[in-house]
Amino acid sequence: MKLIPFITAASAIAIVSLVHAQQVRNEPVKIIEPYVSDTPEKVELGKQLFFDPRLSMSGIISCNTCHNLSYGGTDNLKTSIGHKWQAGPVNSPTVLNSSLQIAQFWDGRASNLEEQAAGPIAADVEMALPHTLAVSVIQSIPGYVDQVQKIYGDDQVTLDHITDAIAEFERTLVTPNAPFDQWLMGDDDAISATALAGYDLFKNAGCIACHYGEALGGKSFMKMGLVAPYESDSPAQGRFDVTGQEMDRFMFKVPTLRNVTLTQPYFHDGAAETLEEATQVMGQLQLGRDFTEQELTQLVAFMETLTGDRLQMMLPILPENGPETPAPSPFE
Ligand code: HEC
Ligand code: HEC
Repeated sequence: MKLIPFITAASAIAIVSLVHAQQVRNEPVKIIEPYVSDTPEKVELGKQLFFDPRLSMSGIISCNTCHNLSYGGTDNLKTSIGHKWQAGPVNSPTVLNSSLQIAQFWDGRASNLEEQAAGPIAADVEMALPHTLAVSVIQSIPGYVDQVQKIYGDDQVTLDHITDAIAEFERTLVTPNAPFDQWLMGDDDAISATALAGYDLFKNAGCIACHYGEALGGKSFMKMGLVAPYESDSPAQGRFDVTGQEMDRFMFKVPTLRNVTLTQPYFHDGAAETLEEATQVMGQLQLGRDFTEQELTQLVAFMETLTGDRLQMMLPILPENGPETPAPSPFE
């Protein structure tokens, strides 16, 4: 009893979320735990960088352009549009819960979020800002230099500082407390009977063999078109593009199904417009079965229970340009 007055608001929240995070049902799908960073200043810097279009050559594209955090962490386009309106080759995956995966990108070519974040800044079809220029832009903004100095004890901004801070911010973008998590924690009424039938089917039909873990995906690379080939216009060949090994052709990272109702269109080429369509294709190409209308309704009802709490946040106020901050070049 004596202790109670000493419990701060923050530790009270931590205790509540620990209690809250107990999964009582023993299922192959695990609940998502909230992420508590021990470096909040780094999270704040990463958040500013995530929203800062000065990290692009045009001055108008930020990470948030293609990974809209006010919606599902994607751009909801078939394939992304980047610098000078160029179409990228693949669909933008969500950044929500991306920290729960074994690797980043459809083909897993980045092993973690730090490595990943360097990619889009310099990619021609994305932000098109060479890394040396990106670093000098951030170095030219006194408010960023101050933060880097405080967090890393360095006066000189490096690409590692930028990607390290962005990655720490991204780790906060987990979405706990979905209706399905509430059900996993023992609340029988959290999901409908139809959704529960969908979950049983999801396990019995074999979806769970690939879409498992807390993110229902992100833990393995699997062949797209296991029992019948997948036809696509996209040049992407999955893991093959990374390893050059024939056995890796069309092996893609199994995407997360968390918040999947917010991340349409689906698949690496964005070819499936609806969740029903994506589910039917999965049945046919991965499991060799045609689902009935009723089965599709059940599977979709289950996947609808996977939308969790998205981080409520204030839009960051970005630090002002310094005297040397270069002007953007939208048409270069
Ligand atoms: C022009 C649109 C665009 C911009 C801008 C962009 N991304 Fe992406 N992002 C994509 C696309 C498309 C992919 C998938 C590419 C692939 O797999 O080859 C992706 C992949 C990712 C992934 C991997 C997710 C997963 O599940 O594999 C993360 C994380 C990510 N981006 C974060 C960022 C960050 C951080 C920034 C800013 C520094 C950023 N993105 C800027 C379009 C964009
Ligand atoms: C053999 C492994 C495997 C099985 C079984 C499987 N999936 Fe998938 N699933 C994948 C892979 C790999 C992808 C990505 C394919 C691509 O984009 O080319 C995917 C993609 C998806 C997507 C699209 C997600 C997105 O964000 O683009 C949905 C939805 C989906 N699966 C649902 C299901 C359902 C429902 C079942 C069961 C009926 C199922 N999957 C069975 C491996 C599997």
